[in-house]
Amino acid sequence: MLREDAGKIQMATIVENKPLASDVYHITLQAPRLAAAAKPGQFVMVRVAPGFAPTLRRPFSLHRFDREAGRIELIYQVLGKGTALLAGRKPGEELELLGPLGNGFWFSGESRVALVGGGMGITPLLAAAEHLAGEGKEVVTFLGARTGDYLLAAEKFAHLGPLYLTTDDGSRGEKALVTKPLAEYLENNRPDLVLACGPLPMLRAVAEVVNSRGIPAQVSLEQRMGCGLGVCLGCAFPIRAETPEGYTYKRVCHDGPVFWAHEVLFALPAETTKQGGCSDEQS
Ligand SMILES: Cc1cc2nc3c(=O)[nH]c(=O)nc-3n(C[C@H](O)[C@H](O)[C@H](O)COP(=O)(O)OP(=O)(O)OC[C@H]3O[C@@H](n4cnc5c(N)ncnc54)[C@H](O)[C@@H]3O)c2cc1C
Ligand code: FES
Repeated sequence: MLREDAGKIQMATIVENKPLASDVYHITLQAPRLAAAAKPGQFVMVRVAPGFAPTLRRPFSLHRFDREAGRIELIYQVLGKGTALLAGRKPGEELELLGPLGNGFWFSGESRVALVGGGMGITPLLAAAEHLAGEGKEVVTFLGARTGDYLLAAEKFAHLGPLYLTTDDGSRGEKALVTKPLAEYLENNRPDLVLACGPLPMLRAVAEVVNSRGIPAQVSLEQRMGCGLGVCLGCAFPIRAETPEGYTYKRVCHDGPVFWAHEVLFALPAETTKQGGCSDEQS
């Protein structure tokens, strides 16, 4: 473990762990040290069960944090062994956390910011939206999901500014990809910054829409992670650089997870963005 990260391990008490949809949970944790240090766009590695099974902690974005109450909130989808174990944890139990980790979104006085979230990628955007709205900035949000059930926290975003919703099946909002209302909005509006989080194809589409208009955008990547500390290189992703190849690999956990959209190489052959070998999926 890197020395600066050693102090980031802390025990948190589960305040609430409740389902939001059939396979999506919202967990609130009493974690004062982490809440005090957190920034929007950062993440936390969670040891989902006591002991070392599974061996690796699982990464989750900070959905929300409340420094005064000393609490953080995460939203997670049950996909495999780790998240299934997490879903079974009860209020009052303790969880080991490592964080906050990663760079988070960065702001430099923008007055109008557009947020674009897809699926579970919606989760880190609420902390950003609340931070920006709290500073008096204009926030406009575009959320897309498979069905209306997965338009997470849509009501909370609606309190903070204009909200555009899309679903794949048309069960809520427009039946379209989230980039459709975004592109339509950008025909007549020019935000100072766009923040996006979601699956890679969505991020690539957002990058095309904003890069072609010269609008600065930050994208948060969610690569599979092993250590979360910059050590195992399992989360490496190609980022443009002045090298003979035109890119270099950066660690999403340590150098990201947030990068400028125009620097991310979405279009490399599939094998170059394949996940590294530090998963303990079998454990
Ligand atoms: C920086 C970061 C932030 C994240 N934030 C959230 C969040 O806020 N909410 C949330 O639900 N998930 C989030 N994830 C993804 C989450 O970490 C994984 O879903 C989780 O680790 C799966 O653990 P598991 O043991 O249940 O599944 P595993 O048994 O490890 O895997 C089950 C299935 O999930 C897939 N999977 C595992 N990790 C990822 C990933 N990173 N991206 C896409 N597919 C994956 C596997 O390929 C496999 O098909 C985040 C990931 C990163 C890197
Ligand atoms: S997860 Fe190990 S280097 Fe990023």
